[in-house]
Amino acid sequence: MKNVSVEYITKFFGEIQVLSDVSFVAQEGQFVTIVGPSGCGKTTLLRIIDGLENPDYGQVRIGERIVSGPAKECAFVFQADSLMPWRTVYDNAKLGMELRGLDIQEYKDRLMELLRLVGLAGFENHYPRQLSGGMRQRVNLARALAVDPDVLLMDEPFAALDAQTREIMQTELLRIWSTQRKTVVFITHQLDEAVYLADRVLVMGRKPGVIADDIDIPFDRPRELSLKRTEDFGKLVERIWGTIEGAIRETGGI
Ligand SMILES: Nc1ncnc2c1ncn2[C@@H]1O[C@H](COP(=O)(O)OP(=O)(O)OP(=O)(O)O)[C@@H](O)[C@H]1O
Ligand SMILES: [Mg+2]
Repeated sequence: MKNVSVEYITKFFGEIQVLSDVSFVAQEGQFVTIVGPSGCGKTTLLRIIDGLENPDYGQVRIGERIVSGPAKECAFVFQADSLMPWRTVYDNAKLGMELRGLDIQEYKDRLMELLRLVGLAGFENHYPRQLSGGMRQRVNLARALAVDPDVLLMDEPFAALDAQTREIMQTELLRIWSTQRKTVVFITHQLDEAVYLADRVLVMGRKPGVIADDIDIPFDRPRELSLKRTEDFGKLVERIWGTIEGAIRETGGI
């Protein structure tokens, strides 16, 4: 577990400024979610944290190390299904380990344990086409956790799932995170998902992307889904929605 320190990040694509002076520190083991209007630079920010993209100004530190190039401390879970169709669940889950040159034999027990943790025991030899959307995202999560990263970066991982599966995956993710404590930076468009999962929600404005609000989420853990129906929860969602709406209004529509 390490903290992620995002320091004065500014990013241009050509003439267009995408991020302006974005700074925050995700503490060790903290679950941070990021919301903001489409195009405000969330994915770009996550890619900069992961070292896949260079900022024009500012830096990212993971623990004490300044990120320059793909960060070995991080594992990324994408929205898009990134499973290889010709590989089984087990072989997909071990991919991250392979890419990092870890000895699969040595880690086989750990991989099986992780597949059990994400609820895929018994499906090791299935192919992606034999799985539901939720199960595929479980494989992606297992693949990310298999390299035992300090930091988990998740870019709208549940966006393609139906509402019910999505809620199941939210509680599952919290259960898994409670046993495999990682620093998490999680992007979502769904405000109730952002509040339900997080210790802290960062709300971004846009053109260029800035952090418009930084909200501590006070609810105890473990959290029940019924939390979403409480008044305090509704108030937080309302506050975030107000900030996003303001950002959209200021920059002229979607
Ligand atoms: N490689 C690139 N080259 C040029 N422009 C880019 C590149 N990547 C992103 N952009 C632009 O930067 C802006 C921010 O994109 P980004 O994908 O980070 O937004 P986002 O907040 O993740 O949006 P969404 O919520 O729709 O996923 C957009 O205007 C996008 O067109
Ligand atoms: Mg994005």
